[in-house]
Amino acid sequence: KRVAILISGGGSNMLALVRDMGQGAHPCTPVLVASNDPAAAGLARASALGIPTAAVDHRPFGRDRAAFEAALLEPILAARPDILCLAGFMRILTPAFIRRFEGRMLNIHPSLLPKYPGLHTHQRALDAGDTEAGCTVHEVTAELDAGPILGQARVPVLPGDTADTLAARVLVQEHRLYPAVLRRFALGETVPLMLA
Ligand code: GRF
Repeated sequence: KRVAILISGGGSNMLALVRDMGQGAHPCTPVLVASNDPAAAGLARASALGIPTAAVDHRPFGRDRAAFEAALLEPILAARPDILCLAGFMRILTPAFIRRFEGRMLNIHPSLLPKYPGLHTHQRALDAGDTEAGCTVHEVTAELDAGPILGQARVPVLPGDTADTLAARVLVQEHRLYPAVLRRFALGETVPLMLA
């Protein structure tokens, strides 16, 4: 399966996916890493691994999401992906864009959905006094952070945790969960993978 990965920043989840796809007997191969930010550090990291990259700066398009997405679609469609992985991609996609990839677009979200869709998930878990937190890989649907759950990984919230210390603990699990879920998804397995 041809996999295109969309990033906005450092791309640590992209790297975890790419490294796993580089292992033997993997059903997927990375064909593109694209970003809405030309300065995204993940683009240089992908290039260093020989993966084609594309950057479409969303800022010149202002509030015209459709025009930005039309520009972003160009390199994505040229790469002929079977699966789209959002990995730290920080733009909300329109239902029209999502419909083109519905059923074959994944996202990783840093909370145990359905708790805490949206932003600032770790601070919200701390403020709520949660004793555990984690991350979720889900299929992307028109409703933000609400598609079918494909996998989750849990971490303890520890005394003295800050949003940053909790985020770092969750990120380690993201890098375990996303590659494991992508392998299964590419093989047609959609029973949710629950990692402790
Ligand atoms: C991280 O906070 C992660 O939880 C979320 O996006 C952010 C950046 O991820 N998925 P990455 O390092 O760019 O993959």
